[in-house]
Amino acid sequence: MNVFGNSLKIILFGKSHEKYVGITLDGLPAGFKIDEESIAKYLNYRRPKPIINTSRVEEDEFEIIGGFNGFTDGAPLTILIKNKDVKSSDYDELFLKPRPGHADYPAYIKYKGFNDYRGGGQFSGRMTAPIVAAGGLLAPILENVGIRCYSRVVSIGEIKDSEEYTLEQLERRYENDLRVLSSGAYEKMMEKILAVRREGDSIGGVVETVISGLPVGLGEPFFYSLESGISALAFSIPGIKGIEFGDGFQGTLLRGSEFNDQLYLENSGKIKLKSNHSGGINGGLSNGNPVVFRVAVRPTSSIPKPQNTVNMKEMSNEILRIKGRHDPCIVPRVVPIMESVANIAITDFLLTFNGGELIGKN
Ligand SMILES: Cc1cc2nc3c(=O)[nH]c(=O)nc-3n(C[C@H](O)[C@H](O)[C@H](O)COP(=O)(O)O)c2cc1C
Repeated sequence: MNVFGNSLKIILFGKSHEKYVGITLDGLPAGFKIDEESIAKYLNYRRPKPIINTSRVEEDEFEIIGGFNGFTDGAPLTILIKNKDVKSSDYDELFLKPRPGHADYPAYIKYKGFNDYRGGGQFSGRMTAPIVAAGGLLAPILENVGIRCYSRVVSIGEIKDSEEYTLEQLERRYENDLRVLSSGAYEKMMEKILAVRREGDSIGGVVETVISGLPVGLGEPFFYSLESGISALAFSIPGIKGIEFGDGFQGTLLRGSEFNDQLYLENSGKIKLKSNHSGGINGGLSNGNPVVFRVAVRPTSSIPKPQNTVNMKEMSNEILRIKGRHDPCIVPRVVPIMESVANIAITDFLLTFNGGELIGKN
């Protein structure tokens, strides 16, 4: 199923080695500027960076079908992104020798061998380009109603970035290729990624997202809680293997008296919370704090190191050596992807919350 959302529906189409990948957004209210610069900026953030990443070019030339005079007009809007630099022949040999860690084997069984295996087909990380284009379209629209989504890399393997940060640091998160906030962590992480690459291996990490400016009460009981909507979209992203909100699994080590975010009345008369262990969500509804979630990004599946597989033609065990171009670490590329996941999910929730109108904080 390539459709997500209630009030804002997104439909994802294309494949890694198809002519195009793309996305259709249906349900966007009329009158919002279609900011092509913002779409291009987000696509640029997702593009592989030299040294750590694959050499696939991913120029991401895009075309918009829909809108009127540069604004949304209430009709569906499609963003088409051309696939260039595709080297399908790398995959011919792999069809009957499934790559460990990829969808090759379960997809072959599910689709009875009719699956487009080139570059992972519809299971490829390439499918995140249109998601990021949609995120780039929605970012300035949300900003207009006071909502911002910031993601950053908090760890690569066992190396962690600083836990303390300022808003200014978050604003500058794209100034380095690893999307970390402290320069000390940058050096250590870069060294680690290069060492892992020399070993013919790969490494994973954690990406944190902070969403500020949400109205209190955003989220729908029961199956479309704020956590459920964000998680469903986050888990659609290839390579995401875990998610936690607020203190998450670490929170199990606290007592209720420590975990509870206690309420107080500010001098201004506003109700506030003293802490944010719940990650801005109680009962599936936003509670006025920033929403904070972290995703676990697995070590990249394709590695040069020899691995075991089965030759499904010969029905024999075989050693597989994957050729072609692959990232030793995809974690920094997940940063604009998670911002886009947040932008899409939050827009959908806001439109549901306000009966089709995009209104920010209450
Ligand atoms: C932006 C992005 C780029 C990716 N690039 C690669 C890659 O170059 N090589 C690879 O093996 N996996 C890559 N992946 C991850 C795989 O697509 C993913 O691990 C695989 O499809 C299996 O899905 P799963 O890890 O969710 O089970 C990428 C993922 C993303 C989000």
